[in-house]
Amino acid sequence: MGNSQIIIREAQIPDDFQNIICLWKSAGPGIHLGDSDSQAEIEKKQLRDPDLFLIAENEGQIVGTVLGGFDGRRGIVYHLAVSDPSRKQGIGERLMTELEERLHLKGCIRSYLLVTQDNQDALDFYLKRGWNKLDLVVMGKDIE
Ligand SMILES: CC(C)(COP(=O)(O)OP(=O)(O)OC[C@H]1O[C@@H](n2cnc3c(N)ncnc32)[C@H](O)[C@@H]1OP(=O)(O)O)[C@@H](O)C(=O)NCCC(=O)NCCS
Repeated sequence: MGNSQIIIREAQIPDDFQNIICLWKSAGPGIHLGDSDSQAEIEKKQLRDPDLFLIAENEGQIVGTVLGGFDGRRGIVYHLAVSDPSRKQGIGERLMTELEERLHLKGCIRSYLLVTQDNQDALDFYLKRGWNKLDLVVMGKDIE
């Protein structure tokens, strides 16, 4: 099956929230859900970059997502996910192409994304599409 009937559109929150969460929960270990994925936190995120949260839809069903951001200096990519039966049809590629175009139009010249070390499929996917591994340690802290 081709992906010609798939449309890429901006996520509408709260309307799409439950279906997006269902997709993320079933997407496998590459998608880590945490406090930032509550409806309240996603609504907060939507106040900043509503045009960078994209979904792929097939006949009304959400089959893919990517959640982008731009802080004025760097882009960031979270939660690229395609439902298992819809993979290997070019949907992930379409989501990333659209997001990268939108980041470019906002003036973003460099973007980051995070991949867990053991997610070889995702690493291969990104490496083939021009992303490079960086020799960095990612650090995090809960801000309270
Ligand atoms: C990573 C992920 C988003 C890729 O999504 P996808 O829709 O399968 O991606 P695409 O279809 O665009 O590309 C995947 C492969 O299918 C191939 N493909 C695309 N259309 C195809 C078709 N019609 N027939 C056969 N193969 C096809 C692509 O060429 C690509 O192979 P390549 O990387 O060797 O070039 C998906 O595997 C996924 O959701 N993984 C789980 C969540 C995850 O780990 N996300 C990453 C978080 S960092």
